[in-house]
Order: sequence, then C-alpha cells, then structure tokens
Amino acid sequence: MGGFELRWVVRVTVVLMMVPKILGWGKEGHYVICKIAEEYLTEDALAAVKELLPDQAEGDLAAVCSWADEVKHHYPYYRWSSPLHYVDTPDFLCNYKYCRDCHDGHRHKDRCVTGAIYNYSMQLSQGYYDLNSEKYNLTEALMFLSHFVGDVHQPLHVGFTGDVGGNTIVVRWYRRKTNLHHVWDTMIIESALKTYYKSDLTLMIQALLRNITDEWSDDVPSWENCKKMVCPDPYASESVRLACKFAYRNATPGSTLGDDYFLSRLPVVEKRLAQSGIRLAEVLNRIFSKQPFAAQ
Ligand SMILES: *[C@@H]1O[C@H](CO)[C@@H](O)[C@H](O)[C@H]1NC(C)=O
Ligand SMILES: *[C@@H]1O[C@H](CO)[C@@H](O)[C@H](O)[C@H]1NC(C)=O
Ligand SMILES: *[C@@H]1O[C@H](CO)[C@@H](O)[C@H](O)[C@H]1NC(C)=O
Repeated sequence: MGGFELRWVVRVTVVLMMVPKILGWGKEGHYVICKIAEEYLTEDALAAVKELLPDQAEGDLAAVCSWADEVKHHYPYYRWSSPLHYVDTPDFLCNYKYCRDCHDGHRHKDRCVTGAIYNYSMQLSQGYYDLNSEKYNLTEALMFLSHFVGDVHQPLHVGFTGDVGGNTIVVRWYRRKTNLHHVWDTMIIESALKTYYKSDLTLMIQALLRNITDEWSDDVPSWENCKKMVCPDPYASESVRLACKFAYRNATPGSTLGDDYFLSRLPVVEKRLAQSGIRLAEVLNRIFSKQPFAAQ
C-alpha cells in the first residue's frame, strides 16, 4: 500500500476509532464493489445483511468487505482461508475449468475462490431459514462471500499457476517497483483515484453507479444472468480471458508500465468493479428472497 493511501487509511481510522483494526477499510476495490452492491439490494436482502453484520460494521456491508484479507494476513487461525481467494489455471491456456483448477496447493478439491463462493452462498441460503442454527457462522459466511465475489472478478485472481497470478512478475508501475498482481489489485485503482477523482473514493463510486444506469445499462441484464443461486464459474472464465487479453499482455517481467498500460486497462478494471458489485447484490438478493430458491 502506498504512502498516500496509508495516510488516507490512518486518517479514516482515527475518525472511526470505534472500528477495530480487524475491520479496517483496507483495499479500495472491495470497498467500491460492496458500496455498489448496497445500492442494488432488495429490502429483504438489506434487512438480512444488517442482521448478520458484526456490530462494528454499523450496518455498512462495505466496512467488512476486506475482513477476509485482514484476518488472512494478521491471524494465524485463518491461514486455512488463503487458497480461497483465487484459482490458478494452467499456464497460457487462458481458460478455466472447475474440476481441473479448483483445488489448493495440496490438491484438496473445492479449495479455491469459486469453491468458496459455492460454499458460503450455500451456508447463507441454508442458514437463512434457520438463523438459530449453530452449524455455520453466517456473519463470517457473509463477509467471506462478499469478499470472494469481488476477488473472482479480478482477472489475475484467475491467472496462471506458474507466476502465481502475476505475483512473481516484477514490474514497475510508473517509477515504483511492484508486481503485476498488485498492479491489478491496487495500483490501477489508486492511480485512477488520484488522476480522475481527487483521491475521493466516493466520487469514483458515483461515477461507476452513473455508468451502470447510463453507459452500461444495456449490458447490465447480461451481467445478472444466472439461473442458479450463484454463478462463479462464468465469472472466473471471464477473468482468465481478461488476464490474457489485458493483464499479461505487454507486462513481461522487468517491464515498466505507464500511461499506455494504465489508460487501456483502467476501463477493464472499472467494468469489473461494477459487474462484481451488481452480481454480489444479485446473489444476496436471491439468497435472502422470501421465495425459497430451488436447490441447485
Ligand atoms: C467452507 O466453509 C467452512 C466454514 O468457514 C470452512 O471451514 C471450509 O474450509 C470452507 N470450504 C471451502 C471450500 O470454502
Ligand atoms: C462469528 O464470526 C464473527 C466474526 O469472526 C465473530 O465475531 C463471532 O463471535 C462468531 N460467532 C460465533 C457464534 O462464533
Ligand atoms: C464511464 O463510461 C465512459 C464511457 O464508456 C468511460 O469513458 C468512463 O471511463 C467510465 N467511467 C467509469 C468510472 O467507469
């Protein structure tokens, strides 16, 4: 995280002293996604979400959308959840298959981001009709699901196995040394914030919400198209295709990424943030609809 954002986070943290560090605002991308999702929740879903959120979130889903990253980094107890943030695919194939790819480093099946999305949406939909059930912690299920629907939309969270989703590709982002994965997690969004939004996340969220009802309104129904409770597999397929077409292209180890890369990739990042927010809202709306959803 760069100097500017660190200061920004610190300032916000000082203002919101009651929010414990574990619920830190963390990554801008997840915050943006959950803010967009909140705008599209039905009344039923919003009520259920508020009931499940931890007190510290103060009723705001976006406040806990980086919880899954925070606990992974800071609490050894949650280390088991690390493989659930991504799915690696075979080098240079540019496609994704659940049975082939969804496993962790020890080849334990289902332990990847798409498997986790199935897992936590199932827990929430089963638990919703039996809120007193002790079987699952639905607060955690909601926080994990909201985070992982974001992650599966980041193209390099469905990148190649050989470079660990771009993590081992060292590049410069303008003058700063970093890696390609981090460029897509954070740097493109940070640069956009500084260049176009006066470093104000709210302005960026507003611009995205405007495009959803305007520029992209014809596409939005196709983003929502899902005949099941949740559809993480097509999202992962989209991601790896975008990884090949945009993320890896012209970003070989040692390259310097500047204006050309930034200006051509930012629209991809912006659309992925918007799609992810809309789809998160849709899955929560289905899970928490009064009409029980047919079992998959
Ligand atoms: C499913 O959720 C439970 C509870 O958090 C967790 O122990 C398990 O590892 C999860 N499995 C997957 C594949 O997400
Ligand atoms: C559920 O998870 C939350 C967040 O980790 C935790 O604060 C809470 O104590 C857990 N609830 C139970 C009943 O374990
Ligand atoms: C909104 O859409 C316009 C036109 O496609 C694009 O130039 C702009 O970058 C988009 N803004 C955001 C925040 O997505």
